[in-house]
Amino acid sequence: MAYLGADWDRTLALIRSSLHTDVGLLEDTNGRILSNSGKLLRPMVALLLCRAIGSVSDDSISYAAASEMLHNATLMHDDVADESMERRGRPTLSALLGPGAAVLVGDYWLARAVDLVVRTGHRDTAIPLFARTLTDLAEGEMLQMEKASSCDTTEEDYLRIIHCKTGSLFCVAAETAALSVDASAEHRAAALTFANALGNAFQIKDDILDYAGTDSLGKPVGVDLREQKITLPLLGALEGSPRESEIRQMVREIPSRPEYCDRIRAFVAERGGISYAVRRLGEWVEQAVCALDAFADSPARTYLTDIARFNLWREV
Ligand code: IPE
Ligand code: IPE
Ligand code: MG
Ligand code: MG
Repeated sequence: MAYLGADWDRTLALIRSSLHTDVGLLEDTNGRILSNSGKLLRPMVALLLCRAIGSVSDDSISYAAASEMLHNATLMHDDVADESMERRGRPTLSALLGPGAAVLVGDYWLARAVDLVVRTGHRDTAIPLFARTLTDLAEGEMLQMEKASSCDTTEEDYLRIIHCKTGSLFCVAAETAALSVDASAEHRAAALTFANALGNAFQIKDDILDYAGTDSLGKPVGVDLREQKITLPLLGALEGSPRESEIRQMVREIPSRPEYCDRIRAFVAERGGISYAVRRLGEWVEQAVCALDAFADSPARTYLTDIARFNLWREV
């Protein structure tokens, strides 16, 4: 990102150097992932928050790099859990090397991220923050699995799942960014509110795209329902519907009756489930943008506003 200049280059270089290994298969695999790195949103948000609050320090770079490495580790594990064959427009590690290797490469990225964090000056505060996020991530994915078999997900369960599996990583990126620039309590709180709202908006948009996305997404669409995940578009459609128990029963039967997916999708369309999710998304985006009022006007703040609003229209 041009605005972040040398801070951005240093972050990418740190990710690359901290993953370096003399094990050929691992080094080649890391290179493959780094050559197709995705949107890099978490380090971008972290460094922009540092700039909106103060000036970027060495710790800022380490935390920004660690949050992106953890994000990639969770995607590798998530693709094993979801049995996904495509990520960022290319075959997943699972598809290429098998699920065992994908778990191990994910563990490696996670461990290298931890190694970065333990070397920072603010480690005594930062380590528990990262540990909490790793706990949230595992709990979120397991709660999602539990709910995919009971099919009784409420909107409250859904919000807990998306906070844990996605919001929490944005939160730790923001909290450690604030920590790294010795932010005031008011600025720390604003950064956290922004990141939590942004993370929730981001996952809601991801779940909308799973219903309404196109090939440009670079990963398969329509998989959430096939895996019996009840996400916000379906929850919106179920709200106040006399067919709620019938539809939930159909979701339970999807493994043996995959043709139910199309019927449930039609129900979501009829009941305006996507519009419902888009409204909720808009509320989180507004909450994120409002949180930025705590910071003085700056180019960094404008970029953060743009990133929050990007969720309203993104197709990738
Ligand atoms: C995908 O995250 C997983 C979710 C949290 C929805 P991103 O869309 O940020 O993934 P990349 O890193 O840009 O591919
Ligand atoms: C988000 O969940 C993934 C993680 C936070 C690990 P999804 O399962 O919806 O993400 P995608 O759709 O596979 O990117
Ligand atoms: Mg997934
Ligand atoms: Mg998804």
